[in-house]
Amino acid sequence: MKKVVIGFLGTVLDRRGKTNRWEKWRPSVAACQHEDLLIERFHLLCARRESALAEQVKSDIAAVSPETSVIIEYIELKNPWDFEEVFSKLLDYSHSYKFIEDEEYLLHITTGTHVTQICTFLLTEAGFFPGKLLQTGPGRQDTPPGSYEIIDLDLSRYDSIARRFSEQTTDDISFLKSGIKTRNQHFNRLISEIEKVTLRSDMPIMLAGPTGAGKSRLARQIFELRRQRNKIKGKFIEVNCATLHGDMAMSVLFGHKKGAFTGASENREGLLKAADGGILFLDEIGELGLDEQAMLLRAIEEKWYLPIGSDKEIHSNFQLITGTNKDLRHECRLGRFRQDLLARIKLWEFRLPGLKERPEDIAPNIDFELQQHSKQLGKPVSFSCEAREAYTRFAVSHEASWSANFRDLNNSLARMITLSEGNRIGHKEVKPEIEKLKREWREEINTENNIDNLCESVISNAQLDTLDLFDRIQLEKVLELCKSCDNMAEAGRKLFNNSLQKKSSTNDSDRLRKYLQRFGITWKAIELLKRQHAGAIKNK
Ligand SMILES: Nc1ncnc2c1ncn2[C@@H]1O[C@H](COP(=O)(O)OP(=O)(O)OP(=O)(O)O)[C@@H](O)[C@H]1O
Ligand SMILES: [Mg+2]
Repeated sequence: MKKVVIGFLGTVLDRRGKTNRWEKWRPSVAACQHEDLLIERFHLLCARRESALAEQVKSDIAAVSPETSVIIEYIELKNPWDFEEVFSKLLDYSHSYKFIEDEEYLLHITTGTHVTQICTFLLTEAGFFPGKLLQTGPGRQDTPPGSYEIIDLDLSRYDSIARRFSEQTTDDISFLKSGIKTRNQHFNRLISEIEKVTLRSDMPIMLAGPTGAGKSRLARQIFELRRQRNKIKGKFIEVNCATLHGDMAMSVLFGHKKGAFTGASENREGLLKAADGGILFLDEIGELGLDEQAMLLRAIEEKWYLPIGSDKEIHSNFQLITGTNKDLRHECRLGRFRQDLLARIKLWEFRLPGLKERPEDIAPNIDFELQQHSKQLGKPVSFSCEAREAYTRFAVSHEASWSANFRDLNNSLARMITLSEGNRIGHKEVKPEIEKLKREWREEINTENNIDNLCESVISNAQLDTLDLFDRIQLEKVLELCKSCDNMAEAGRKLFNNSLQKKSSTNDSDRLRKYLQRFGITWKAIELLKRQHAGAIKNK
């Protein structure tokens, strides 16, 4: 096949040697000096202002390789370092070139700027230049003809590069899973997707899922992976929104100016600023108040916000990761979470399954925890065969609810390891541990039922029996909403919002009071219910 070279004129290397140019290695001329590389045609690409040099190279090639015809083609690049311009001009060139079957095309990548080299590589790889790459070099003596190499991007060497990429992806996925060899297909698919998003996007990520499913841990791993790959320079700032209340919440997040409120004796930077260039992990975002939600929305969208008491906006460019074990769509329906904020933060939404949904991963997780403990203690920790079998059988059975997921599993293993003799867990430790877990989960179910059946908590069973199911379902929902409100006025506003807008009802809290009165329920009873609920959660 006839060989055709397409390459840029080397404005530095092809110009070398004013008086002794035949002694210098000049890539375009030298490419035609190899006895075993017969070039039929050479398309020499250059700017019109380089025409004198191009003509000289053409005549030098004619001298060393008379059978090569050189075609000088002018490509005007305003800026040969501008990726977009170079790429599009080369793409146009490839479209206009009439490639034919019985010619072999070699794209010379030794000359030109790095940008032209990269674009040539990309266009060859993508098949716009249907050929191979030609790489030439000066050899040891820096004299012609030097060396050359033809690189076929379709061939095996390139495959091995592709294999390295895929090995790296496997490593990254394993890193996100803390090296645990999980088997659950759904979970593994989820983590592969998270790996892609981690490396390709800096948009908000929302990690949902039950408590202890590993949301906080995964958020950290995402940060670590981005940092290792130089995608991020700043810090990982984590805040649990459930711990933020009132004025303090605003000031912790957005910072404040000295004197903004009583007690603000110094300027405070705020966590949004601390996360500049890094990741802000807002855990339990469902607990954030409506005012903070509004400010956060603006800060995410515009990257600018006002610290409390300041009239000067602050810029912070952070990536947001949120964690929640609440159903935020439901919170939106109840008016406790902003729909527009939810839409913004759930651009990438991932739900981590609970341990019960991934029974096949319990065994690898047990192994992982034992390894961790062995490392910590500096000696091996293990199960006896029958103890392991009994524990695993229970762990994947319907009796095990793993309501706090990895927290339950890790605590349970830690207890058995501590009580075991010589760090070998036997039947002696497993049996009472299983009983303990069963008891704990049973008690939890009882408490939950007490809390959740709100009607039963505020009216007597006898009265309850007289209610139609219709009224009971309605009352249950009304009580649930009341429980989330600070006072009757707020609850009334939320419940009768539409009629309020239409002005068909004037006093919504009165309307609520009358509704509750029908069942003999006062706002005081609801306050009591709220306190009981808060106490039950604290004791959990
Ligand atoms: N895959 C895992 N294997 C073993 N332990 C894990 C795994 N993921 C998380 N853990 C451990 O389980 C505990 C709970 O994890 P984490 O705090 O990430 O859960 P979470 O989903 O954020 O819970 P919450 O909703 O209560 O904040 C931590 O001690 C963590 O180190
Ligand atoms: Mg968490």
